[in-house]
Amino acid sequence: MDKNIPIDQNMIDYIFSHTERLHPIQKKILKYNESLGNIKRLQISILQANFLQFLIKVNKFKSCLEIGTFTGYSSLSMALSLPKNGKIYAIDKDIKTNNIALNFFKQANMHNKFYIETNNGIYALKKLLKNKKKFDLILIDADKESYIEYFNFAIELLSKKGLILIDNTLWKGKVSNPEINDKLTQKIKKFNNYIQKKKINKYILPLGDGFTVCWK
Ligand SMILES: C[S@@+](CC[C@H](N)C(=O)[O-])C[C@H]1O[C@@H](n2cnc3c(N)ncnc32)[C@H](O)[C@@H]1O
Repeated sequence: MDKNIPIDQNMIDYIFSHTERLHPIQKKILKYNESLGNIKRLQISILQANFLQFLIKVNKFKSCLEIGTFTGYSSLSMALSLPKNGKIYAIDKDIKTNNIALNFFKQANMHNKFYIETNNGIYALKKLLKNKKKFDLILIDADKESYIEYFNFAIELLSKKGLILIDNTLWKGKVSNPEINDKLTQKIKKFNNYIQKKKINKYILPLGDGFTVCWK
């Protein structure tokens, strides 16, 4: 058996009270997402966002790409860790949540770091590839149906020392159960099998709903 302590809400509260404080606008987005009810589960966890911030800071990354912006929690967290001249390219097909996210970015005075694209992920990534763009950190967190395609684009768009992060790769624990085979679980299982066979460095971290980190 591996040695991991259980992380319950008490432990999460303890972690938050002994670590970097959240930015007021991060808190505001969390509160807003909370008000959305069930949809709030779309947002990455606070610990995952902390991990992204850590990666950006220690590696001195300058550019990020996110596929699946939603109301901006993960994007803003990344922006806050980038240097002043850092840039984020944030893609989401939903104009309504993109506008909500932009409003939060403005409130945090981070909007100048953003290019927000309202588009289907695949179309937007094709365009970036055509324009020979490169990114230091790429976060994949949109529709699970396209994860393999997003990943293949991400490999091409990744800078030499860059990292690709993929959310939901443990899919509420369902991926390790051979008896659970609904459509989305199958998609994530297929994606994890695909990555496993790829000649790329990778770890699946049990953070949030499962966070895979890959690099060349
Ligand atoms: C899980 S949420 C992203 C959560 C966000 N990263 C956060 O932590 O707050 C997924 C987002 O992907 C977007 N999305 C779904 N399918 C898409 C597609 N085909 N192209 C672009 N965006 C898509 C949805 O509109 C939604 O906002």
